[in-house]
Amino acid sequence: MTTRRIAVGVTGASGAIYAVRTIAALLEAGCALEVVFTDYGKRLLLDELGPDAKVERLGDLMAARYGDGIRRGSFVVHSNKDMGATLASGSHRCEGMVIVPCSMKTLAGVAHGLSRSLVERAADVMLKERRRLVLVPRETPMSLPALKNMVSCAEAGAVILPAMPAFYQQPKTIEDLAAFIAGKILNALGFDQDLFPPWEGERPKA
Ligand SMILES: Cc1cc2nc3c(=O)[nH]c(=O)nc-3n(C[C@H](O)[C@H](O)[C@H](O)COP(=O)(O)O)c2cc1C
Repeated sequence: MTTRRIAVGVTGASGAIYAVRTIAALLEAGCALEVVFTDYGKRLLLDELGPDAKVERLGDLMAARYGDGIRRGSFVVHSNKDMGATLASGSHRCEGMVIVPCSMKTLAGVAHGLSRSLVERAADVMLKERRRLVLVPRETPMSLPALKNMVSCAEAGAVILPAMPAFYQQPKTIEDLAAFIAGKILNALGFDQDLFPPWEGERPKA
């Protein structure tokens, strides 16, 4: 079976747990991941998941939270400043990308094709090569520019998958909420997943 290669961008919007759960789930699915954190993505990882949540210790962090299933896959972390990294080129066979969470700043950069950083350039590569790009914006309320930027990205072919967990699966913990968003992201990237129970339709009346 061919290993599936996916890029993950992590930016400075709230919701670092969505990033970590998504990366872990893609590793559990056996992917080869190429991960890029923005400076504020790194900061929010520490702010929201605690002082041990350093990028250099990401593997240990995920193994402690989600178990050794993450060892089925592999990951490398690129510098966001490295415009010579593999992800900057369309000839590199990376089949899809998710930016989770996606800040309004990075959303704007992707919407306008700015390619100011590796995250933005890799997203632009996905759009120009007509590959899957999933954006997970998180902000509330949203400005008109942010809303327009989402429309621009959707028109260019991206999937806009807001960090909006549902409650019909009766989540009990924050991890349940993170698993829901990670599961939606895996589906959008074309993976099967069992991170949350599927809706089975209306329960029959007693
Ligand atoms: C604690 C904290 C929470 C933030 N939450 C959000 C957020 O939810 N959404 C957002 O768009 N920006 C948020 N920001 C602002 C971004 O981090 C900021 O715009 C940053 O420049 C984004 O840069 P990046 O896209 O390169 O990561 C937050 C910043 C901090 C410090």
